[in-house]
Amino acid sequence: MPHPYVLLSAAVSLDGYLDDTGPERLRLSGPADFDRVDEVRAQSDAILVGAGTLRADNPRLLVNSAERRAARLAEGRPEYPLKVTVSGGGDLDPALNFWSTGGEKVVYTTDKGAPKATAALRGLGVDVVPVGPELDWPAVLEHLHDVRGIRRLMVEGGGRVHTQLLQEGLADELQLALTPLLVGQPDAPRLFGPGGYPGGVRNRMRLVETRPVGDVVLMRYVPTAPGAGGLASAADRHWLELACELAAQCPPSRTAFSVGAVVVASDGTELARGYSRESDPVSHAEEAALAKLDPADPRLPTATVYSSLEPCARRASRPAPCARLILEAGVRRVVTAWCEPDTFVPSADGSGLLSARGVDVVVLPEYGERAAEPNRHLLGG
Ligand SMILES: NC(=O)c1ccc[n+]([C@@H]2O[C@H](COP(=O)([O-])OP(=O)(O)OC[C@H]3O[C@@H](n4cnc5c(N)ncnc54)[C@H](OP(=O)(O)O)[C@@H]3O)[C@@H](O)[C@H]2O)c1
Ligand SMILES: [Zn+2]
Repeated sequence: MPHPYVLLSAAVSLDGYLDDTGPERLRLSGPADFDRVDEVRAQSDAILVGAGTLRADNPRLLVNSAERRAARLAEGRPEYPLKVTVSGGGDLDPALNFWSTGGEKVVYTTDKGAPKATAALRGLGVDVVPVGPELDWPAVLEHLHDVRGIRRLMVEGGGRVHTQLLQEGLADELQLALTPLLVGQPDAPRLFGPGGYPGGVRNRMRLVETRPVGDVVLMRYVPTAPGAGGLASAADRHWLELACELAAQCPPSRTAFSVGAVVVASDGTELARGYSRESDPVSHAEEAALAKLDPADPRLPTATVYSSLEPCARRASRPAPCARLILEAGVRRVVTAWCEPDTFVPSADGSGLLSARGVDVVVLPEYGERAAEPNRHLLGG
């Protein structure tokens, strides 16, 4: 199911803390960075914080600049982003600034927390949404996307919320403002807590930007570790986007599809990429990518193949179709955007062939349009 683009945003001390243990909120960022955050908020459809941050900091979470609010209105968007919080227990103080400022608000909670939250917030016009016996993050994101129309979600903490979204592979981007101070208190809240992160300790996120903002350094990272099994992670979507970009680079053809493929190790390392007709006039994308790898590469059995079009099940140009090449390489997971139309081969169903052999095939139809784009001339009316 489609999710909003999830951007985790935090200011962090040099020793990795979000706050100190004192009763007052520790202001980590400077004025220039608060203004940068205001701009990111203005670009977002919704801002989410955990109930812990509401209790600790009593934030308003507004777009403070009148010009930015006016620009939102001029674009036909609400003046303020939707404000979202999550609470397991539903124990929410109606006197907090969060409820009385800005635009619309929604609380995601558990079945048990919902009656309590509804009673506490009665008359404040807040939408209380139970998502099941536990706080189910994919359900929260699906509801925000499908029911609230949220496409870009900014998450402003705290540590528990950031940790879960990253660990569950649901974060598309991390924006860290590294601030030049040291907290030094072991009990202070950390940005990321213990537990397993996608791809393990060897996973490296991709650095996409660094920018000095006053005495703070903004660092933007994109998670890279593929998801697990049949579940799609945010990083899966980024890799599939790359496959779609590669498809657009193929030499044009009237007799074959333009497809892009990327092979990625479980720790998020890109192993190989390829596109249709890259090495010779009939090569396929997955074939071109896999040909660049040693068949004995020990990372292949836990790797994921991303292909803009589902791997082919039959082909005239070579003895082995891509689905078979993938099985022979020992790859157990494939993510694709688009199921093969009947243009060249009736009922191709490479995904079915792979699934029947125990490969997890994840289809992300929201990328189908992008995958089909370089093939418009083959698809007729
Ligand atoms: N430096 C920064 O950029 C920054 C930004 C934000 C926050 N902070 C700091 O972070 C600290 C707060 O962080 P935090 O980790 O304590 O709180 P948090 O992540 O803001 O919120 C945690 C709360 O959210 C609810 N929740 C989250 N995941 C849940 C789950 N899986 N199941 C059930 N409930 C869940 C629970 O609410 P209930 O308790 O209601 O059940 C939980 O207590 C504060 O010190 C704040 O100053 C710093
Ligand atoms: Zn093929």
